[in-house]
This record gives sequence, C-alpha cells and structure tokens, in this order.
Amino acid sequence: GRVAVLMGGTSSEREVSLESGRGVLAALAARGVDAHAVDGIPALLEEIRAGRVDRVFNILHGGDGENGVLQGALQALGVPFTGSGVLGSALTLDKIRTKQVWLSLGLRTPRYVRLAPGDDVHAAARALGLPVIVKPSCEGSSVGVSRVFDDADLDAAVALAARYPGELLMEQLIETDGPDAGEYTVGILGEEALPSIRIVPAGAYYDYHAKYVADDTTYLCPGLDGKAEAAMRALALAAFHAAGCTGWGRVDLMRDAQGRDWLLEVNTAPGMTSHSLVPKAARAVGIEFEALCWAVLETSLA
Ligand code: DAL
Ligand code: MG
Repeated sequence: GRVAVLMGGTSSEREVSLESGRGVLAALAARGVDAHAVDGIPALLEEIRAGRVDRVFNILHGGDGENGVLQGALQALGVPFTGSGVLGSALTLDKIRTKQVWLSLGLRTPRYVRLAPGDDVHAAARALGLPVIVKPSCEGSSVGVSRVFDDADLDAAVALAARYPGELLMEQLIETDGPDAGEYTVGILGEEALPSIRIVPAGAYYDYHAKYVADDTTYLCPGLDGKAEAAMRALALAAFHAAGCTGWGRVDLMRDAQGRDWLLEVNTAPGMTSHSLVPKAARAVGIEFEALCWAVLETSLA
C-alpha cells in the first residue's frame, strides 16, 4: 500500500523533522516502498480523505506529531502508523508527567520542580541545589534548554524556556566527572533495546548545535561493557514500557560518577537525520539505515 512519510509540521523541530523525513523517504523508496512525503497533519488528513494513504510513517518531531493528537486521529480513521499510540505519545511528550510515572515505579530520574508562573525560581533552585537544568516540559532537540551553574543566570534561563508552550521543568543536573559518567541514549526497536550510545560533546554540552550542526561530537557505541551495559538497556526498556510506549523510540539517560543511571526522557519519533542516534545504534548491530527504516515501518503492522 501507499505510505505517507509524515514530516515537517509546525513545532520548533520542523527543520530536524524535514531532514529526518527526507532520509526516511529515500530509504523506503530504495526498498521499493510506494512512499511519498507529506508536510504536517492538515495535509495528511487531506491525503487520507483523498484515498492516497494506506499507512503512515510518522517522523514528525515534537508538538502534535509526538503528543498523541496525530495518533488519536489516525486511530479514529483506522489508518495504521509507526510507533507509540495515544497514551505513550501523550505521556512522554510531557517530561514532568513521565518523571512522575517513573518515580511512582521506583525508576531513577533526577529530582525536579515544576515551575508555574509566579513561582520563586530562586527558591526552587536552592531546594534542588545548583547546578540545575531548566527546560520546557514539552519540547525536543534541547530547544529552550539551559544549564544553570550560577543563581545570577537563573532568570534568563527561565525566560528562555518560557518562550515555548506548556509548563517549565527545573531539574537537578547530574554531575558527570567519573570515567563512565555522562550523557547516554538507548534506542528501542521492535520492543528490544539497541546498544547504548555514550555522547561526548566537544563543547560544554549536547545542545541543538552539537546535535545537528557540528561534527565534533564523539559517539561511543556500545557506551558501556558487560553488566553495566545490560543494566542500562534493561532500564531503558523498562522505562519505555512503563510510559506506555510501543514499536520504536529512544530513551535518554545520564550516568553519574557513582555508576547510577538516571532517566531523562523518551522520544517516540526520534531523529533519523545523518547526525541522529538511533541510526548509529542500529548500525552497530549491523542494521543499516534502509533496513532500519523498514523495521520501523513494520512497527505499523502490529
Ligand atoms: N527530538 C529529536 C528529534 C530526537 O529526539 O532525536
Ligand atoms: Mg526529546
């Protein structure tokens, strides 16, 4: 049948999504799939009404592509789609509520404060202890995110995050000076965890520029060995399932100097650009990009 590769849209991650989508479209075409690009949800609904879509490969990052809105519409229309359904998408686009679910299950995630308008952000930072990280609860690709080491920088960080819709989150920043400590991610494909990737940015941290523009980030895959690697993969898979996610996705974590893993968030339509992480993890187990796109498409068959 005809596959719509849904990309673009109106979120802050539009450009990333277009790049992911173009790559996915080319890979599916190379595999003989009858696929075409569709930019945004309104255009997709038109295409469906016109009878030109049998299945959707969703690579619309952020906003309505990852928050359950798209998933609900497609489910109501009876059109199969890749990745998580309404519940997993809606929950995990909201980092605060995802953390609440993990905490209730005893899964480790950094301490946090939800910031409401008018809250004393300095008191919140004192309660957590500096350094902290301030982020919009519902954005991706590090958009609107700041690390704050000095109380004097707090107001600017909150103002930046407040430019995006939804709630704000202030989180304890996990210190990463140990040998294996740092930022990690685990891709999930077909209900199995791929090898972890350890991300070692050349600059201070893995921000939007390091994610998509610079070529100086080092990626180690697998990021760990033996039991530590197995434990991180198991934690990521448990966190993914706890959040109601299915099919494929990516779980982001931090590992501290004591070797403890801390869950940050789940991405239900993770990046598929030439810089992105799931393609790197898949390649490490012999799954090239074309085969990866095919495997993700298969998650729509369930
Ligand atoms: N939100 C971006 C696309 C990612 O998680 O890869
Ligand atoms: Mg994200």
